Amino acid sequence: MSVVDQRSPGADPLPLSSIAHNPLDRLRTGFPALTRGPYLSVCDKAILHDRVRAGVDLFLDRMATGDSTRVDHETYVTASRARFAALTGVTPQEVAVGRNVSDGINAVLWAIDWREGDNAVVALDAEHPNNLYPWLRLKKRGVTLRNIPAPGGCLDHDAMIAALDDRTRVVSCASVSFAPGYWADLGRLGRAARARDVLFLVDGVQSAGILCHDFPAEHIDAFATSTSKGLLGLYGYGFLYVAARWIDRLEPTYLSRPAIALDTDDASATGSYAYRLQPDARRFEVGSYNLAGAYAADASLALLEEAGAERVEARALHVAAALREALSAAGLDPVSRPEGASRAAHIVTAGRLDAGGHGFSDTPWVRAVSARLSEAGVVHTVRRGQLRFATHFFNTEADAAVVRDVLRDWRGAA
Ligand SMILES: Cc1ncc(COP(=O)(O)O)c(C=O)c1O
Repeated sequence: MSVVDQRSPGADPLPLSSIAHNPLDRLRTGFPALTRGPYLSVCDKAILHDRVRAGVDLFLDRMATGDSTRVDHETYVTASRARFAALTGVTPQEVAVGRNVSDGINAVLWAIDWREGDNAVVALDAEHPNNLYPWLRLKKRGVTLRNIPAPGGCLDHDAMIAALDDRTRVVSCASVSFAPGYWADLGRLGRAARARDVLFLVDGVQSAGILCHDFPAEHIDAFATSTSKGLLGLYGYGFLYVAARWIDRLEPTYLSRPAIALDTDDASATGSYAYRLQPDARRFEVGSYNLAGAYAADASLALLEEAGAERVEARALHVAAALREALSAAGLDPVSRPEGASRAAHIVTAGRLDAGGHGFSDTPWVRAVSARLSEAGVVHTVRRGQLRFATHFFNTEADAAVVRDVLRDWRGAA
């Protein structure tokens, strides 16, 4: 039996190289990208841990030798689904495996049994484009879009709640916006939605794997994410949570074998033409899975379990606060939290929103500081014209100190 054959989902593909007291500091040694400098860009994309890469290598080895069946590979889908469910306080039966946020949002929106005169509530100015266009298209179904203004990218929770009425079917927001990085009060919106039996749909890609979630406690009805950011996996693999109470009320638009309830897991089996939908969230799954993504997600979610969700969040928020201090010390006003909000997220931005776009800014100091940070090896981004950082458990105060020093030198030279 080869080494490859002996490994199973969740197994440690690599031995731990060192045992330290703090699991976060031990785990961070497995990210090769961190040897190059501070990585403050998980809001753009994940970096791979050695164990995650080993998971993908294992998949590739098995594909190369051809000695694993599809069912063998799919144990990693099942395992990663269960890990995501455990991380977010729900059951695996409420989690569908898909590709990304767009997949999840569209799957839910088009599964609603819309009636002429229904409405949907969203604040498009605060959303990523992938949680914007699906809503514009709803008009084709005779749905009224209640687009709530979000000045400065800030959700107006009161106005969103006030817009809900007896014909509202769905309300949506990002858990944390990609820029300026505001953290929505999900529990508050969720409670208001629940009181009116409105489906609360969350674009959760910026918080998943970084900030603690408990979907039932937050009254979230549906949550879409990919694994390509804080979940520390690959692009093209993601999860869609749909609360049990909604599953039977939603009729998927796309249908293929995984969505159909049969007594076999044989993918080529056909049951009665009077088919039955899966009783669980698998009714939203379409065709074959991104199996490389499943191997990666199983390993990355195991890593996050080991790190501990509360420790991860605490570390990410602590370093984010240090970054805000570094910006303030250089006289650059960080965007913190909207007035009245109790929490600032792990995404840290500075500069005027929409003074530029993806990767460029019209604000001269943003361009200058961004260039200096890049020279110093600090990975960061510019989004909606703002300077942007984000943190995860692998970041430390030392990363914020590097940023502080770069800013001090820039100030000194200016
Ligand atoms: C808030 C938010 N939603 C969605 C996406 C991407 O969507 P998808 O996973 O469909 O590519 C991003 C990517 O940056 C994002 O920040």
